[in-house]
Amino acid sequence: MNTVENIKDLRAQVKAWRMQGLTIAFVPTMGNLHNGHLALVAAAHQYADKVIASIFVNPMQFGANEDIDSYPRTLAQDQASLVSVNTDLLFTPTAATIYPKGTGENTFVEVPNISDLHCGASRPGHFRGVATVVCKLFNLVQPDVACFGSKDYQQLQVIKTMVEDLSMPIDIMPIDTIREASGLAMSSRNGYLTAAEKAVAPSLYASLQWLSEQLKATQLEGSVPVENYQGLISQASEQLAQAGLTTDYINICHAKTLATAVPSDKEVVILAAAYLGKARLIDNLPVSI
Ligand code: PAJ
Repeated sequence: MNTVENIKDLRAQVKAWRMQGLTIAFVPTMGNLHNGHLALVAAAHQYADKVIASIFVNPMQFGANEDIDSYPRTLAQDQASLVSVNTDLLFTPTAATIYPKGTGENTFVEVPNISDLHCGASRPGHFRGVATVVCKLFNLVQPDVACFGSKDYQQLQVIKTMVEDLSMPIDIMPIDTIREASGLAMSSRNGYLTAAEKAVAPSLYASLQWLSEQLKATQLEGSVPVENYQGLISQASEQLAQAGLTTDYINICHAKTLATAVPSDKEVVILAAAYLGKARLIDNLPVSI
């Protein structure tokens, strides 16, 4: 596996593959790779002849008080992991390559409405940073297909919407969330957790499962679920507090628009974010009711 840092080398390799008539799948990441990331690369191989991964800790998607400086950077280990899943090329641009004018001066991409909800409400500007860097990486790599984890459900919807709205000729493939045996969704940020915190972190997914069961049961009883949603959410939040997690939000939403669910919505998703020690954990669970 070759690792290239600059745009010229990336484009030369992409061009060579294109001349051979080969298709390309792309897996963008911020590194500190775990089995969730590697599952995306493994899936990407099913969709194209060559798989390109990128590692770039994107300053534009971090807020002023967020963890960009402490975000784990483990390049040598990541390269070995990517080799183990037969990645064909790794792109590791510097911030100066991606943002030669700095992050404040560049043209940006903003997907309206959906970017302001949920994580976007807690992290203003986050999804502008995500959409902009992914658009830019798409223009550099020019893939046929790109794989994104359902773990970051809102991010996936933002990217899908961007691709649709801007007529980008790229198929976006969602990949299921990879979890620890405990149910905890794998995340680079789990590394911030102490052993004691890691023991209680699975309660986030447990409370999503509980909520999902409640939603299905409420529907079976024939009551209007939306009226009951807030009460259920408060109970789930209370469960989290008892386990030692501080809820940022728990929302029951339309599975595509991510607007607050209404009684006629049959495909919903429960989105949640909670603080635990130094980590902010996110998770979600789609539910058919
Ligand atoms: P990062 O958090 O490194 O995640 C890279 C990709 O891996 C994303 O598509 C994410 O959804 C997926 N992923 C993370 N944990 C996963 C898990 N447990 N199971 C399945 N997939 C998982 O998301 C980003 O980076 C950035 O925002 C990025 C898209 C690269 C733009 O900077």
